[in-house]
Parts: sequence; structure tokens; C-alpha cells
Amino acid sequence: MMGSISNVIVSNEQKVNRLMPIKNAHGSHKDFIKSPMNYIGGKYKLLNQIVPLLPNNINTFVDLFAGGCNVGINVDAKKVIFNDNLTHLIAMYNQFKKQDILSIQEHIKNQISKFDLSKENEEGYKYLRVHYNNYKNPLDLFVLVAYSFNHQIRFNNKQKFNNPFGKNRSSYNANMKKNLVKFVSSVHSKDATFSSTCFNEFNFDSLSGNDVVYCDPPYLITTGTYNDGKRGFKGWSEKEELELLNILDSLDFNNIRFALSNVVAHKGKSNDILRKWLCQNKQYRAYCLEKNYSNSSYHTLDRSKNSSIEILVTNYIPPASENESQLFFEWKN
Ligand SMILES: C[S@@+](CC[C@H](N)C(=O)[O-])C[C@H]1O[C@@H](n2cnc3c(N)ncnc32)[C@H](O)[C@@H]1O
Repeated sequence: MMGSISNVIVSNEQKVNRLMPIKNAHGSHKDFIKSPMNYIGGKYKLLNQIVPLLPNNINTFVDLFAGGCNVGINVDAKKVIFNDNLTHLIAMYNQFKKQDILSIQEHIKNQISKFDLSKENEEGYKYLRVHYNNYKNPLDLFVLVAYSFNHQIRFNNKQKFNNPFGKNRSSYNANMKKNLVKFVSSVHSKDATFSSTCFNEFNFDSLSGNDVVYCDPPYLITTGTYNDGKRGFKGWSEKEELELLNILDSLDFNNIRFALSNVVAHKGKSNDILRKWLCQNKQYRAYCLEKNYSNSSYHTLDRSKNSSIEILVTNYIPPASENESQLFFEWKN
């Protein structure tokens, strides 16, 4: 019998069976490359739970909603395609790919000096912002983000970068520099391609059984500057959510492996579209990822009003699940 949406998470007792977060599954964060973009919603902190759930022996890995590229950059695959509909972001990554690290660093250094950028100099930041909006030098986007509020990327409907200054907080610091060097070096050593199409226009025709499509879309029940539809880029609504789930079904139909990151619950909200889809597709496996490493347990995960249940859905049996009780949603009823 198929589980209804409401009984997906029923009692605490059943939750113990169904909600089994993956604790420190494999590796430490030291092993992973961190995106220099400090991307909102970036998966860096979850990599030691996500990466072990990805298949071995991947030919092409598609990071369909690449954002900061945290997942694709850390995957062992023959080829990685990073896609994101934020065209200016992809232009920046393409520039990282084309240029050597020394000349990239030289450009950053020159712009910092030319615009006298610092944590305090808002005027300098604003001059650089105008300069970027006039000339759209892809590397200037990186410099802007280094000094912008929360390191966010935000454009208005006229495609002008409009994130405010990160006063007293944001700068091109030693960590960002270190992350940039490692990131660019990895991009250069990989067979990496960057593309900027909307997920529903992406051409999956060349993919086959040895490939994997990883999706970390905007979450329907959380908000990010990239999913409100007010920033000159398409927003994220139930329509896109359903379109994406349909695409995943058709990948599955064509024996192409996929992994989907998402949240089923967040701050008292529930993603019923996703829950219904999971109920209707019991062949898919959903793993619970533990977000708050310090003090959370699966007993408390969905009790608190502020908690989130973050999952990874796969249409394949991940290597890491062979020996551990990591599977979380078992649609038993
Ligand atoms: C949650 S973020 C991805 C974060 C990424 N996994 C990381 O670890 O850095 C979602 C990304 O989806 C992109 N996006 C939003 N709508 C999209 C669409 N229709 N097609 C492709 N990408 C889209 C956003 O620009 C954003 O970068």
C-alpha cells in the first residue's frame, strides 16, 4: 500500500526506522575543496555525507544547479559539466578556466589597489560595482563578491549587480585566496565544462548509464536570492519543482543515474510535492543528511519549529549504503 503524504513521518518510533541521518559518513572536510564563492546554500558542509552516496566510476557528472560548484569540483568523474542559469557566474568560471592562477591573482590585486578596496571603503566598492556593471569583466564579479554583503551574488532585472557592501565584514581574505587557488587548480586539472542554460533546456541526450546528474535546485520552501524571481533570473515555483521531478523520472526511465538534494521540511513548512513524488516512486531512495553536526539527533530533527529535514534522493544504490544503516526513508507501509 502506498504511504500517504501525512504518514510519511508519523511517530517518533517509526522515525527511528525512517530517519537515519548519515553521521560523519566518510572523510573530513579537510579533504574537500571549498568553493571560493561562499555560496548561499552551498553544499560544502554536507560533502562528507553527499560524496559517499554518489556512485563510483562516473563517466560524466552533471552538476545541473552548480552555484558555488562545491559538489562537482569534489567528484571523481572523467568529465564534469557545471551548469547554472546565472550567466554572469558561469562567465566567471569560464574565465577561471581560461586564465592561469597567477594572472587571475594579479587582476584581483590590481583591482583591490585601483579601487582601494577594504572592509571599510564603501565608496571604492560602489565604484567597482559601477565599473563591473558597465564592462562586465568576469573576474571583477569575483572581486565584487569578495567585498559584498554576505558574499552574495545579486542582480536586478536589468542584469546589474546590486548587492550592497559588506561593511566591516567582507573582504578578499586569506581563506578566500586559499580556496580560489585550490579551486582554479582543480578546474584546470579536470575535464570541466561550464554551461548556463535553464535546467529544463539542458540537453541530456548524450548521457548514458555511466553518467550521473546531480541536482541542487533552489528549494521550494526556503528562500534564497536566487529563487525569488526578482533578480533578472527565473524564480522557482511549484511549476519548476514539478518540471524538475519529471526530468528526474525521465532520466530514471532512460537508466541515467541521478541524485537530488532538497528539503522535505523547513521551519514548519513541508514540501508536499516532493513527499508525494517520493511516495509514488518507492524505487527511489531518500537519505537524511544531518545539517547541524553539533547537537542534533534524528529524534529532534523535525520537532523544532526551526529545524530542516535535508535529504538526498537517488535512483541507484549508493556504495556507502552497502554496509551501514544510512537509508532513511523506507516506504514500508
Ligand atoms: C542551492 S544553489 C546550488 C549550490 C551548489 N550546490 C553549491 O554547493 O554551491 C542553486 C543554484 O541553482 C541556480 N538556478 C536557479 N534556477 C535555475 C534554473 N532554472 N536553471 C539552472 N540553474 C538554476 C541558482 O542560480 C543557484 O546557483
